Amino acid sequence: MTLNLAVAADLSHPPIDVTAVLNHLAQHADNTAPTSIGYPGATDLDHTAVIARLGNRLWNNIGDPHGTGGVAHTRILEQAVIAWTADLLGMPTDDRWGYVTTGGTEGNLSALHTAYRRWPTARIYYSTAAHYSIPKIINMLGAYQVPVAAGPDGEMSYDDLATQLRKRRRWPAIVVATAGTTMTEAVDDTTRIRAILTEHNITGHLHVDAALSGIPLALDGRLHMDRAGDIGSITISGHKFLGVPIPCGVVLIRDSLRTPALNPVAYTATTDTTITGSRCGLAAALLWHAIALHGREGHRWRAAEARSTAAYAVEQICATGWTAWRWPHAFTVVLPTPPEPLRRKWLLATDGPVSHLICMPGITRDQIDALTADLATTITTPIPRPRTPDYSITP
Ligand SMILES: Cc1ncc(COP(=O)(O)O)c(C=O)c1O
Repeated sequence: MTLNLAVAADLSHPPIDVTAVLNHLAQHADNTAPTSIGYPGATDLDHTAVIARLGNRLWNNIGDPHGTGGVAHTRILEQAVIAWTADLLGMPTDDRWGYVTTGGTEGNLSALHTAYRRWPTARIYYSTAAHYSIPKIINMLGAYQVPVAAGPDGEMSYDDLATQLRKRRRWPAIVVATAGTTMTEAVDDTTRIRAILTEHNITGHLHVDAALSGIPLALDGRLHMDRAGDIGSITISGHKFLGVPIPCGVVLIRDSLRTPALNPVAYTATTDTTITGSRCGLAAALLWHAIALHGREGHRWRAAEARSTAAYAVEQICATGWTAWRWPHAFTVVLPTPPEPLRRKWLLATDGPVSHLICMPGITRDQIDALTADLATTITTPIPRPRTPDYSITP
């Protein structure tokens, strides 16, 4: 008999069959996993060791990651995660600060809050392909927002950025670039953005939302925060490329760009530098574990394998007569939106006429073959190629 989850989980009608509810959730997730290829959570890493050893206890990294307060915490692992990520990005050791967040949104909030405190009259620019958390955060800050056009491939229009900046050149600018846009995994060119700011003699802050592509691009040497760099802060997600089974992330901010820390909070014995007070120490331990097990080389290999699967997906999908494309660095494969039953089965992410699958580490060629077979059966008439960007020059 199938379980009606809403009825079984209703807490107003005890006794509750807890085992049945938990089994149902786990079984449903297991059953849908082979066709869940639209969202970017890597599934190839085994976190059992951490969950088994630490999972049944409260680990609270309350307050600043360098604080000493709290009972059981994993701050030492959190500090190791921040140091590894900052080293990977080439951040100077004397000009770095960061912490483990609840995810990309909190990282963006922390970075933009920091930037806006420093530049309270700034206009905040972001492309229309940026994640929806960005305009939400700008609203929360009460700041003035300036959307900038993005091309059909998802990359920011630098001409439009220049036009928008020219109209507001008397105010500082906080510009949000994206490294791995949500729909197409486009990467905005921060060197170009900084050059436009310099050309217009505009001061301010450059933040990079690298929730999806931060680690892989840093491993490629394509994303860095060295002393000469243009970037003031970066957000990276932990449950995407690093496959942590709890939503989490890392935010990194140049220490010199932060306003002085607030007074210590007496009862927690830490400074209140983070967005949330209590913070998930288990997430920091899981991030640490994912990094410790594989190191730079292991993660480079994972990225290369995933990209190769994505290239295979484009090839196979195009061979059916359907259309698909990807950026050369991307795990994301973009295609014209297929019919609804196929989208539902494969949990493809869809934005109007465009859908995508994401070949995160853990996605196999067998899954791509099965998707391709389903796509082939939906084709009744040849599909015109949409305006696909020309990638003859690797961006
Ligand atoms: C580019 C980008 N930024 C931020 C986020 C938000 O991350 P989270 O859902 O962890 O808050 C996402 C999530 O998909 C994203 O793709």
